[in-house]
Amino acid sequence: MISEKIKKLRLPELLLFSDGSPVDTAEKAVKRQAEIKELLQTEIYGRFPKKAAFTYELVSRDERAFANKAVQSLYTLSFPALGGFSFPVRTLFPKHIDAPPLFVFMNFRDDLPDRYYPAEEIVDNGFAVASFCYKDITSDDGDFGNGLSGALGVDRIKDDCPGKICLWAWAASETLDFVETVGGYDRSNVAVMGHSRLGKTALVAGAFDERFSFVFSNDSGCAGAAITRQKAGESVDAICRNFSYWFCPAYEKYRNNEEAMPFDQHFLLALSAPRRIVVSSAAEDLWADPCSEFLCCAAVSPFYEIFGSRGLVCPDRLPEIGDAFFGGSVGYQMRGGSHYLSRADWQKYMEFMRIKHNNG
Ligand code: GCU
Repeated sequence: MISEKIKKLRLPELLLFSDGSPVDTAEKAVKRQAEIKELLQTEIYGRFPKKAAFTYELVSRDERAFANKAVQSLYTLSFPALGGFSFPVRTLFPKHIDAPPLFVFMNFRDDLPDRYYPAEEIVDNGFAVASFCYKDITSDDGDFGNGLSGALGVDRIKDDCPGKICLWAWAASETLDFVETVGGYDRSNVAVMGHSRLGKTALVAGAFDERFSFVFSNDSGCAGAAITRQKAGESVDAICRNFSYWFCPAYEKYRNNEEAMPFDQHFLLALSAPRRIVVSSAAEDLWADPCSEFLCCAAVSPFYEIFGSRGLVCPDRLPEIGDAFFGGSVGYQMRGGSHYLSRADWQKYMEFMRIKHNNG
């Protein structure tokens, strides 16, 4: 049933190189990932910026946060070679665990706690968090003259110049560089996570930085974890009408022309293989389209199998509210309710990390 649905989508082949030769070994799959990385940079997200050296400064620290259960710190990261561009990063470490797994969490706001960020509950569960607010990287609009984009001199004339998603994803990687210098967490269990536009961003960050052993994409929909072909809700045309600046200019040519795309979103998920992914949907989030998000997980699974891992493990039916398919390296879960990053979603990500942690 699922394979029939995927066949009907007539997706571009993940398991064929662009010259038509087969991708049938793990070694070839890695080469295929390099090809796909290039393709996604030229066709949708733009060029991922180069790493940059940074300095950091501790701004404030609360050693007794959340009833003395956690240490919460605020830092500023500065990039001298980028004209002094800087952004704030917050860390939260539980005290009762020496080397907790870590979330690099991109949020819409900088407050703590926040409705998308149940901080106390996360540390109580034994997880650490390094978070930043995406608007501190560059604004969420078509102005490319501010923040990181201004510092890089992003030139929107170029077809493959980075869109905003790519710039926010770069900041997730730099945040991880920074946390590595501070230490105090389990380096083999690091997740990158975001919701909605930042769920798209989490997938791009995971694609470009292999240190993220877990990639969690919440309600990311169009240009995130949803297959674009025959998608319900938001289309390429709709997303480009409102948010063209999230992408490189080349993406525009696929407006009302999805069939011409030499990729679909399972290509993006494939860049994190064989690392662990969870795609989450909310049943009422028809704009994101839960069904297309689910099919994307199924469509990337053969790519995981080339690496000798299981992709999505699920019954042969469409998902229902309450499903959490966590048997393979590609997880999918659907909760009831609308577009939101809820406590229930966080609980699922923590559960998946507990099941799939890399030390056991
Ligand atoms: C809009 C947009 C989506 C996006 C969402 C969000 O609805 O169309 O693509 O995911 O905003 O980021 O909240």
